[in-house]
Amino acid sequence: MADPFLIGAGMTGGYGGADILHDCTLAVEKGEIAVIVGPNGAGKSTAMKAVFGMLKLRQGHVLLDGEDITALSPQARVHKGMGFVPQTHNIFGSMTVAENLEMGAFIRRDDFRDTMAQVYDLFPILKDKRNQPAGELSGGQRQQVAVGRALMTQPKVLMLDEPTAGVSPIVMDELFDRIIEVARTGISILMVEQNARQALEIADKGYVLVQGANRFTDTGKALMADPEVRRTFLGG
Ligand SMILES: Nc1ncnc2c1ncn2[C@@H]1O[C@H](COP(=O)(O)OP(=O)(O)OP(=O)(O)O)[C@@H](O)[C@H]1O
Ligand SMILES: [Mg+2]
Repeated sequence: MADPFLIGAGMTGGYGGADILHDCTLAVEKGEIAVIVGPNGAGKSTAMKAVFGMLKLRQGHVLLDGEDITALSPQARVHKGMGFVPQTHNIFGSMTVAENLEMGAFIRRDDFRDTMAQVYDLFPILKDKRNQPAGELSGGQRQQVAVGRALMTQPKVLMLDEPTAGVSPIVMDELFDRIIEVARTGISILMVEQNARQALEIADKGYVLVQGANRFTDTGKALMADPEVRRTFLGG
């Protein structure tokens, strides 16, 4: 079988002390949505950082479209087509919405106005608020800025660490709808989610991580139906 479009395979490593990730594998196919869930401190963000090149792996490798990118810096991975929205500090609060999007296009030397228009089509509220400091927006709107910023490089893979953190259920549903829309354009989505049920519902593939290791891996649907996953991770 061909390799998945993006795969972090057998990732082992940490922040210099003891390993946080233990032979952890995450993958996503082209245009699909893969969701990572698991308890606080399970290493979800660490695994995302590892895939994006922010963590030196002791073992394992990362492949993007068949190419080994394990040795590349995060910036080099952006050039290869990866976009990443970290869990925290993912926008510049004192800069306007438009400036945040322009910053997102930092690697581009071409005209990115079309991409900006696409982001505004996806998130119309950002167009209305384009001249406001991003820090003045609501939580859900700030997450839209963060996702929009990452889209400005026209990534092939979009990695999102808890895009719906701290937003209301209605705003969460809206964000998930937009994320599905992005995936339908052919962009692969690899995302960490605290809202496990709702996220697994839209996931082609789901990963349950516990203590830095893969505990369950299956389609989103199968994980939702698995009694043990339900009891242990989805609250029954
Ligand atoms: N920069 C860091 N330096 C050292 N240890 C860290 C660092 N960041 C995280 N850790 C540790 O790594 C482990 C996994 O943390 P991580 O943030 O990856 O978990 P998580 O699954 O994303 O949790 P949450 O659901 O709270 O976001 C924790 O024990 C945490 O204390
Ligand atoms: Mg985290």
